[in-house]
Amino acid sequence: MQTLRDLPALRSAIDILKSDGKPLVLVPTMGALHDGHMALVEEARRHGRHVVVSIFVNPRQFGEHEDLDAYPRREAKDAQMLSAAGVDILWAPGVEVMYPTGYATTVSVSGISDGLDGAARPGHFDGVATVVTKLFNQVQPDVAIFGEKDYQQLAVIRRFVADLDLDIEIVGMPTQRAEDGLALSSRNAYLTDEERKAALALPRALGEAKRHIERGEPVAGVLAQAIAALAAHGFGPIDYVTLCDAATLEPMQVLDRPARLLGAAKLGKTRLIDNIAVDPA
Ligand code: PAJ
Repeated sequence: MQTLRDLPALRSAIDILKSDGKPLVLVPTMGALHDGHMALVEEARRHGRHVVVSIFVNPRQFGEHEDLDAYPRREAKDAQMLSAAGVDILWAPGVEVMYPTGYATTVSVSGISDGLDGAARPGHFDGVATVVTKLFNQVQPDVAIFGEKDYQQLAVIRRFVADLDLDIEIVGMPTQRAEDGLALSSRNAYLTDEERKAALALPRALGEAKRHIERGEPVAGVLAQAIAALAAHGFGPIDYVTLCDAATLEPMQVLDRPARLLGAAKLGKTRLIDNIAVDPA
């Protein structure tokens, strides 16, 4: 595996990789890799495709009071994991390569970016859409793989890829979970032992709410119960627990089409998100 940090080196390595005509797959990450990320890498490797993984902790998607400085960085260990998994190129540009002096362009996706995490984290999806557009232009992949763990992010990416006529297949992968059900996340590293136990209340509250809604109970009451359950386990502030259209993410009060139940809340200093499919009978 080659680790590359500047664009000319990346471009020539990619030209060489692509010369055999096999598809090139990109897996964008911010590093501190766990089994959730590695499931995307394994999917990328299927059928012997070429794989580029990027690691870039993107300052533009962190709010002013968020955890940019504290965000876990362990590139040496990440590189070992990626190399063992058969990745061809680790693309790890510095901030000055991604956003050189004078950088002035933002990719902004309206509508689908506005609610949920977009409302709780103003500017977050502008930062994501901008860096992912740049990663696509840098790596020029045929396929890019993202996790459903960040469900709204996946929807925002699908939107701008369609809107901007990008010729890239976007693949969404199911959320990988610890044995007890907590979604794997680089941010789980922030949790104390006690918080790690309490964190289970998030997937449990979503799973419980899914069952009640699919049984036909009124959505508003079920969501209120889920929020109360999170508060009882020490979560707060709770940004949202919402039932949304699975494709457009518009809020839904009645389960009349495929939906997604999404939740985000802080536990101590750590912000956790999760989501689950909810389907009409
Ligand atoms: P990061 O949080 O590192 O996640 C990288 C990719 O791994 C994303 O597509 C995310 O959805 C996926 N992922 C994380 N945890 C997962 C889990 N438990 N199961 C399945 N997939 C999981 O998301 C980002 O980085 C950034 O916003 C990025 C897209 C790289 C742009 O900066």
